[in-house]
Amino acid sequence: MSYYRALGFEREPFSTSPDPEFFYSSREHDRAFTNVLIELRLKRGLSVVLGDVGTGKTTLSRKLVQDLRKRDDCIFHIMLDPSFENRSLFMHSIVKNFGIPLEAGSQGPTLTDLREATERFLFQKGVVENKSVVLIIDEAQKLDPMSMEALRLLLNYETNQFKLLQLVLLGQNELLTSIQQIPNFMDRISFKTRLNPLDLEEMKELIFFRIEQAGYRSKMDLFLQDALSEIYQFTKGYPRQVTMLCHKALKTMLMRNKSVVDRALVNDILEEEVQFGWQRTNRLLQNSSF
Ligand SMILES: Nc1ncnc2c1ncn2[C@@H]1O[C@H](COP(=O)(O)OP(=O)(O)O)[C@@H](O)[C@H]1O
Ligand SMILES: [Mg+2]
Repeated sequence: MSYYRALGFEREPFSTSPDPEFFYSSREHDRAFTNVLIELRLKRGLSVVLGDVGTGKTTLSRKLVQDLRKRDDCIFHIMLDPSFENRSLFMHSIVKNFGIPLEAGSQGPTLTDLREATERFLFQKGVVENKSVVLIIDEAQKLDPMSMEALRLLLNYETNQFKLLQLVLLGQNELLTSIQQIPNFMDRISFKTRLNPLDLEEMKELIFFRIEQAGYRSKMDLFLQDALSEIYQFTKGYPRQVTMLCHKALKTMLMRNKSVVDRALVNDILEEEVQFGWQRTNRLLQNSSF
């Protein structure tokens, strides 16, 4: 039996996959989510979400996708890794994933063919059919300058009232540098935000929220307050690190036949990691194999 069932959960509470069902709306996550949706509704073009590794960008993107799926006025694609060797391959990927028809006979379409086909598609969907076409790009710091330029050209494509392509870029902080290097890209951003690590209270709420979402119904707290403070001290509120440490804490608790996670248990886990050669710093959990 899996460890989480033995503890009375229906699902794994601290899986590191970006499952939108486990999305806790912290102040910043909620602000980002709500504002991106508003921008999409108003068809204002470009939203940018920045954040360090493990702050919740991918989880937020899955939450957006979950919302967009429910709408029938919206056509979207999420690109998980936008590293392409050249602009043509990048445009090919857009054409393929949106199912954009190419003119008959364009066997080896040129970059211009791809761009024109995309623009025709954006016009057809956006103006004739009154739909929103949304492209979400995760790991957007990997976009090279040529792909950024292709996006900039697509963002130029608009009616008097709205942009025809809605673009959401989520990426690590280097994304800002690449945006700044493309002339006229920065001033096209209609909403930008940065996800920061959680504060202590929000970290606790995230932990309790995930425990509840996973179907834990007992009244007994699984994490004591001193354990939570210890977890905060070492994770600094980075959701990925919090998730990984909580997962390990529950597993260790079960193996030791205990019923709560206390400070000593959390400390043992951290010490064990140190024995495996990791420094006891806040980088510890990011690098370790929880
Ligand atoms: N708002 C959130 N609510 C619940 N869990 C979250 C949240 N944000 C991140 N996490 C958890 O943290 C981990 C890393 O999140 P992820 O979205 O992959 O970060 P990033 O893409 O910024 O590196 C995942 O396990 C995810 O479940
Ligand atoms: Mg990510």
